Amino acid sequence: MSDHDELAEQRRKNLKLIHFSKEDQTITESEKPKETFADVGGLEEVKKKISMNFILPLKQPEVFAAYGKQAGGSLLLFGPPGCGKTFLARAVAGEIDANFFHIELQSILSMYAGQSEHNLHDIFKKARESKPCVIFIDEIDALGGSRHQMRQHHDRMLVNQLLLELDGLQAENENVFVIGATNTPWYLDSALRRPGRFNHLVFVPPPEVAERQTILELKLSGMPLGSLNLSKIAAETKHYSGADLEQVVKDAVETAMERTFEKGEIQPITQEDLKKSAKGRKATTLEWFATAKNYATFSDVNRDYQIVLDYIKKHGVRA
Ligand SMILES: Nc1ncnc2c1ncn2[C@@H]1O[C@H](COP(=O)(O)OP(=O)(O)OP(=O)(O)O)[C@@H](O)[C@H]1O
Ligand SMILES: [Mg+2]
Repeated sequence: MSDHDELAEQRRKNLKLIHFSKEDQTITESEKPKETFADVGGLEEVKKKISMNFILPLKQPEVFAAYGKQAGGSLLLFGPPGCGKTFLARAVAGEIDANFFHIELQSILSMYAGQSEHNLHDIFKKARESKPCVIFIDEIDALGGSRHQMRQHHDRMLVNQLLLELDGLQAENENVFVIGATNTPWYLDSALRRPGRFNHLVFVPPPEVAERQTILELKLSGMPLGSLNLSKIAAETKHYSGADLEQVVKDAVETAMERTFEKGEIQPITQEDLKKSAKGRKATTLEWFATAKNYATFSDVNRDYQIVLDYIKKHGVRA
């Protein structure tokens, strides 16, 4: 399996929070995510934004009421692949004692034609009946991603349904929170970006050096470890995504396990194992930055992506 397939497969495994049964077209919910913000390395700015928008309004509604603000609303997370958008959304669910509805558009779209809108409506209906709740629409880019005529027609209907649902929430949105996630916000139907819908963009950047160290620590915790200098590995993995780092750890674990089988007793993961596996992987975020830069430079009339250009400049991304 290629890295990409592996990641996609892993994602699929992780993300079946809502499961669609093809036979009866019903939606069943599975367990609540157990990740919390403590499991997400770094991303302090993003966590703060999510806290202000989603978590505090639920924990301290009186503060928001005092300022005449209603708890509820939407955010659109965007950024390079593997940097924690989906992970974060799951952590939001773990962080608050709210119902969490995970909508994977890809799986809604792959259902029978004409059923997609129906499914979407059902989820939103159920969500509205289960307040407080977080509705997470992952991989929103699945909409309009196909050039196929038929698909386009269905996508269009699904976009329209999504617009209807989001506007419906505006009327009775108290304690309903919507998080969208995408790699390619510039492809989103502009109607989805209007005020009251996904007009609030939040950039989820690759981890910085200290965050990379935290992620490595998180992924290695509970394993047999030799004496490690993780700050060194973190320094050598510039631009690596969280998912890239996870892969680095997995490779190192594999090496240590092989050694264990050879020697017949548990072998710790060494600095050399990590160093070697880090060298064997590449940062997968750079390609994204190249594309994003293109959009930010040539088609960003609202200057939505200035933050990406600033990031590229500040971090010396060669995109
Ligand atoms: N900040 C982080 N802290 C801890 N783990 C992380 C972090 N970022 C990413 N990861 C790890 O990388 C994996 C992939 O992250 P995730 O699926 O959330 O990325 P994504 O931004 O949703 O990517 P995509 O755009 O491809 O959907 C996660 O399962 C998690 O283990
Ligand atoms: Mg994701």
